[in-house]
Amino acid sequence: MSVRICVPRETAAGETRVALAPDGAKRLISDHISVAVEAGAGDAAGFPDASYEAVGADIVSDPGRLLGEADVVFKVAPPTEAEADRLPKGAVLACLLRPHESEALIQRLAGRGVTVLALELVPRITRAQSMDALSSQSNLAGYKAVLIAANTLGRIFPLLMTAAGTLSPARVLVLGVGVAGLQALATARRLGADTWGYDIRAAVREEVESIGAKFVDLGEGTSEDAQTEGGYAKELAEEEQARQREQLAAHIARADVVVTTALVPGRPAPVLITGEVVERMRPGSVIVDLAGEAGGNCALAQPGETVVEHGVTIHAPLNVPGSLPYHASQLLGRNLSALVKPMIGEDGVSVDLEDDVIGPCCVAHAGEVRFGA
Ligand code: NAI
Repeated sequence: MSVRICVPRETAAGETRVALAPDGAKRLISDHISVAVEAGAGDAAGFPDASYEAVGADIVSDPGRLLGEADVVFKVAPPTEAEADRLPKGAVLACLLRPHESEALIQRLAGRGVTVLALELVPRITRAQSMDALSSQSNLAGYKAVLIAANTLGRIFPLLMTAAGTLSPARVLVLGVGVAGLQALATARRLGADTWGYDIRAAVREEVESIGAKFVDLGEGTSEDAQTEGGYAKELAEEEQARQREQLAAHIARADVVVTTALVPGRPAPVLITGEVVERMRPGSVIVDLAGEAGGNCALAQPGETVVEHGVTIHAPLNVPGSLPYHASQLLGRNLSALVKPMIGEDGVSVDLEDDVIGPCCVAHAGEVRFGA
């Protein structure tokens, strides 16, 4: 019997994405893997049931039956307790698990004998690029952040020469130039803005300059040592953070738009923009804080809300990839398929903990919790 991959409808409030789009289902089915999708699972992303049926997937109305028959479950958000309790022993669950906040859930799933793969823990190595959901979703978030800013700003982004005179370009500053930040810079540049990027990791300068943006040089504020072996940023000591904020203040005050994306895995987001710095910005300026889910990079940001402080509009949208559910789901489904497909053979699904991708991202297997151990 072929391996069965099941895709439930997401139940988290406001989640519009689905963990597999019809294009991904088609590819799996052509590899003799059976795909079952809960009725309505793709509706909010623009994929009606008929689009899955057209590629050979089964549509299942009863979520309990769907999960109970799964060899593998693809999900976007972590399962609820009720969903976790429906997963059969030996099933493999792959999703965006938020592992640092999901200790009890991991324990519960391990207790049920479920193998759990956390997409956030897929290592940033060349072989795993096609499996990297943080990158695929961050890319979309960076793009959308700039559109949100452009839509709010009372100025245009490009330099414009008109019969009535010349309009100067908007100055866009991106703080934290990982995947989301780089895409934000590239998008702002495509719209014609004067683009600036800053990151504590010294390696970022070259990437910023390679897309034609300028790097904000804080001298001591950028360092080779600010990076872990995995390529992530380290958390700065409080006094270093204070010095960084001070040095950045003048650059922020000059910007029309600031997009912030700075994150340190498993830690609260660093505060890069204090209330006093917002006060120094020109009224009408815009901040889009993409770190809202980790508390925000702007002290005045309210995660999930848009506020106006000192004349500056501060957006801190949550689940930004979810505002582009069609493409976000397509990419996520491709990431999940690339991760899980090599585990599927003629004898079913095998979990190789020695594998350099599966090992690090597997947080529970055979009754054992493997995260934080
Ligand atoms: P992230 O989402 O964890 O953080 C965003 C950015 O914020 C990072 O560039 C980080 O250095 C920066 N940051 C953190 N604290 C900061 C502070 N106090 N001030 C200024 N900036 C700060 O990062 P993301 O996008 O997940 O990328 C993490 C790493 O993974 C990068 O080195 C990236 O190049 C690498 N990567 C490698 C891939 C591969 O080789 N397969 C694929 C994707 C990313």
